[in-house]
Amino acid sequence: MTTSSESNLTGGAWAPGGVAAGLADLQSLDDQFTIDTYARLPLDAVRGEGTRFWDAEGTEYLDFLAGISVSNVGHCHPKVVAAVQAQVATLLHVSNLVHSEPALRLAERLATNSLGDGSKVFFCNSGAEAIEGVLKLARRAKLAGDFVVVREGFHGRTYGALSATPQEAKQAPFAPLVPGFVVAEPTADGITNAVTERTAAVLIEPIRGESGVHVVPDDVLVAARQACDRVGAALIFDEIQTGLGRTGPLWRFQSTPVVPDALTTAKALGGGFPIGAFIAGPKLAGALQRGDHGSTFAGSPIIAAAAHATLDVLMDPALPAATERLGARLRDGIGRLPGVTEVRGAGLMVGFDLDGGGAPELVLRAIAEEQLLMNATGPATVRLLPPLVVTEAEIDDALARLGRLLA
Ligand SMILES: Cc1ncc(COP(=O)(O)O)c(C=O)c1O
Repeated sequence: MTTSSESNLTGGAWAPGGVAAGLADLQSLDDQFTIDTYARLPLDAVRGEGTRFWDAEGTEYLDFLAGISVSNVGHCHPKVVAAVQAQVATLLHVSNLVHSEPALRLAERLATNSLGDGSKVFFCNSGAEAIEGVLKLARRAKLAGDFVVVREGFHGRTYGALSATPQEAKQAPFAPLVPGFVVAEPTADGITNAVTERTAAVLIEPIRGESGVHVVPDDVLVAARQACDRVGAALIFDEIQTGLGRTGPLWRFQSTPVVPDALTTAKALGGGFPIGAFIAGPKLAGALQRGDHGSTFAGSPIIAAAAHATLDVLMDPALPAATERLGARLRDGIGRLPGVTEVRGAGLMVGFDLDGGGAPELVLRAIAEEQLLMNATGPATVRLLPPLVVTEAEIDDALARLGRLLA
């Protein structure tokens, strides 16, 4: 490899393996050429394998963020890599105007492993798009109506998804938002009182991830189910972060007493490749009509091949119990560390609060001093989302690193 200053590639040209710019070069490219919406960590990544990645200098990091719950199967899982390599040489893209087996089989697989007989799937390319689509589905089913969403929920950055994300800092600069969103407190009474005859759907994350890993109690989900049933509204679970084994079972709803009418998924489904989908249970599967919705890239053969390989890993019958066991070990260990006031989560979706704040600073120190990647969801909250292929030894290693940081 050559450094960027020695490279003969100019004007931004790049090819795999060609240029190994260091962090400072990348920060300068970022400053100059990208729109400044991300507070990126002072860290670059050039190669990944399992629970680890390496920067341009060759420093190894233990990844307890997994690309924000995307790399559930770990970085560059050999099954995903092999499936994509084979598919890349066969067919890249055809559009949804023709039939393509990888995506249709993926739809079969998701529909038969989620919301019961008669379920159907729509593919898209990201989480926010899955939210946009599922909102259209619910409104089409009732032909009118509002969406009830909960305070501190997060559903994405596009206009419909942002309108479903009642957080002042994210919404205020972009008003006016899409009308028709009613904000409820995330309690049983809050949701019950917000749902009326006008409600088309209740949209809720069964565990609020971006706002700091808050597990929604069963009584709240049951109240949402009952409220929806009372008025003929759809109950939609946003499983973009909680799904695909993150909390143990394939879907979080399977650990609750409630079955939603539809769910959204994205993030981990492509094993690192961009994909989103919504799954409509039998009540809603027929609501959208031809011409109602679409997406050019959705269900591409490459991404579908990656998703099949990913599901081969994530649907291992031994994985749910291992995820629950390892998650409990991680949470127990964190709970014993100094300065930790609360640990929350399920499976390997874990958040903890620090006495007196300092979460962003801890995340920076974890990178610099312990080569451990996590993220701060707020001033006092740290979130951990390790790949589900993490081992017990790696959990203990992460706990030891955290222990040194908090000592
Ligand atoms: C629960 C939830 N919904 C929606 C989204 C948006 O997904 P994307 O960033 O792929 O648009 C996220 C992303 O963090 C999420 O956690």
